[in-house]
Amino acid sequence: MPLVSMRQLLDEAAKGGYGVGAFNVNDMEQIQAIMSAAKETKSPVIVQASRGARAFAEDLYLFKLIQAAAELNPEIPIAMHQDHGNSFETCKSAIELGYTSVMMDGSLKEDGKTPASFEENVAVTKKVVDFAHARGVTVEGEIGVLGGVEDGHGAGGTGLEHITDPDQAVEFAERTGVDALAIAIGTSHGAYKFTKKPDGSVLKMDVLIAIHKRLPNTHLVMHGSSSVPKDLHDVINQYGGKLKETWGVPVEEIQLGIRNGVRKINVDTDNRLAMTGAIRKVLWETPEKFDPRDYMKPAREAMKKVVALRMTQFGQAGHAGDYQPVSIAEIAKGYASGALSIKPLVAAR
Ligand code: G3H
Ligand code: 13P
Ligand code: ZN
Repeated sequence: MPLVSMRQLLDEAAKGGYGVGAFNVNDMEQIQAIMSAAKETKSPVIVQASRGARAFAEDLYLFKLIQAAAELNPEIPIAMHQDHGNSFETCKSAIELGYTSVMMDGSLKEDGKTPASFEENVAVTKKVVDFAHARGVTVEGEIGVLGGVEDGHGAGGTGLEHITDPDQAVEFAERTGVDALAIAIGTSHGAYKFTKKPDGSVLKMDVLIAIHKRLPNTHLVMHGSSSVPKDLHDVINQYGGKLKETWGVPVEEIQLGIRNGVRKINVDTDNRLAMTGAIRKVLWETPEKFDPRDYMKPAREAMKKVVALRMTQFGQAGHAGDYQPVSIAEIAKGYASGALSIKPLVAAR
């Protein structure tokens, strides 16, 4: 199956009332882990690459690997997404490579650190939407700012500093025409999100529900959605790691989000933890080993287990065969004719 439009994948998820995990990749083993989980659970899937991943793996290596994944798994709908694009040029280069979806994260300036103004965010996101939609490519925007810093990307601080304002979310969605909207509800990227099991004072599910009520037809995206399970954390520390105690986003909260318009859930940290734990275990228990396959194979298997579990928990499992892919050229026609514009965005009050 060719790579599929993320918009089609999310529209199908909305129809079926489920969420779709968007898993970050940097190398072949991570792509294989995701595809083997998708195959086992019969799940459509979003694979995403950050700017850091594109630089690490080199664009062409990474994109050819994704094409291989699509060729080897013709029964699985796969959308290839640019995670946290920082500028029009970053998104344009992903589209020109063949990505079927891009995130223009205009919540931060191009440096990926300084919060941008609302007007700056609208302007750059709208520019990306015009370019992408003309080519049949999906666009995710972000309003509000997440906490934490990953690979130099992020404003720092806690997730509570720039929570999304529901009124601004409505204006942003209407003025930009984004297909999907990432919102800030208290989560942060990375392992250190919360200092105790999060309640409504730090994880603002009420804000998410308010935004969904106002924008029932916009696909919402939860970033920083790793659950940071204790078992993965413990394996790392058991084999010489030094992670501090921490809490992630409980799966039940994500499932509440899915019942309230969340269609894309970004997960990276849980997979990083799973792979690192598996590698540490092999090297700790058998220090005489030096063949990378001896630790990369268990690492790939550990990531596959986490991804398959999330696919089941998010509800995408079993849905790979529900639909046939619409070509990107047809999707472009749908944007041009207005058939794919999300109207009315705002629920009648
Ligand atoms: O947005 C955060 C993702 O976990 C990607 O992280 O920029 O370190 O590749 P990265
Ligand atoms: P985590 O760090 O919680 O896995 O979040 C990943 C993410 O939001 C990627 O954009
Ligand atoms: Zn993110």
